[in-house]
Amino acid sequence: MIVAVTGVILILFVIGHLLGNLQIFLGPAWINGYAEHLRELGPLLWIIRAILLIDVLAHIYYTVRLAIENRRARPESYRRKDVVKASFASRHMVISGMILLAFIVFHLLQFSIRAIDPRFAALPHDPLGHYDVYSMMVLGFTSPLVSGFYILAMFLLALHLSHGSSSFFQSLGLNNKNLTPRLASAGRVFAWLLFVGYSSIPAAVLLGWVHLRSHS
Ligand code: HEM
Repeated sequence: MIVAVTGVILILFVIGHLLGNLQIFLGPAWINGYAEHLRELGPLLWIIRAILLIDVLAHIYYTVRLAIENRRARPESYRRKDVVKASFASRHMVISGMILLAFIVFHLLQFSIRAIDPRFAALPHDPLGHYDVYSMMVLGFTSPLVSGFYILAMFLLALHLSHGSSSFFQSLGLNNKNLTPRLASAGRVFAWLLFVGYSSIPAAVLLGWVHLRSHS
């Protein structure tokens, strides 16, 4: 239950973060203004950050514990391991989760703490006096290596969520014969929509559809 509830909070964050990020397609004024509004939240922003951090740590701690308990429940491994029903996604929750964690650490160092690329801290403010998140994202994603890593991470996020979002209902006991397969399909559609939404950003920069704009 804790894994389910902490997971759903993370899903809500991921939806909100995507909607915020997609504003890059509306131009620098939109996305930079949006980032400024977030910063204006002041102490509330720090409270949200703290809740997210505790949430993600609890999600990881309890999933790893679940994985260990499952393994202990059958110390001797199966001599012949035929997969009957479990999907590829459900069998790889721990590994996709661990690569996602590595992605989040890199992502925070890159865009939030801005410790990876010295150009980010040196960016001039936009004409409205806001930090230029737009140019930071464009500069970041012009590297095919960085964009490739993001797209791979978004693929794993989708894989992770395609299983996780529908398991949520099962973990809470909200399960029935007609509804469960539909929830599983809805979870998969939702996860791959997130993949398309997030990946569209590095892809659009690499294709030159979203590019640096002069401030004059
Ligand atoms: C293409 C995909 C993504 C893009 C373009 C993106 C973009 C950004 C940007 C620009 C920031 C810094 C905002 C600022 O300081 O003004 C940020 C922060 C952050 N991102 Fe992402 N992000 C992406 C995917 C993700 C994913 C998948 C997750 C989580 C699973 C995530 C979690 C975070 C977190 C936790 C922060 C820190 C927020 C804060 O400082 O309060 N991001 N992201």
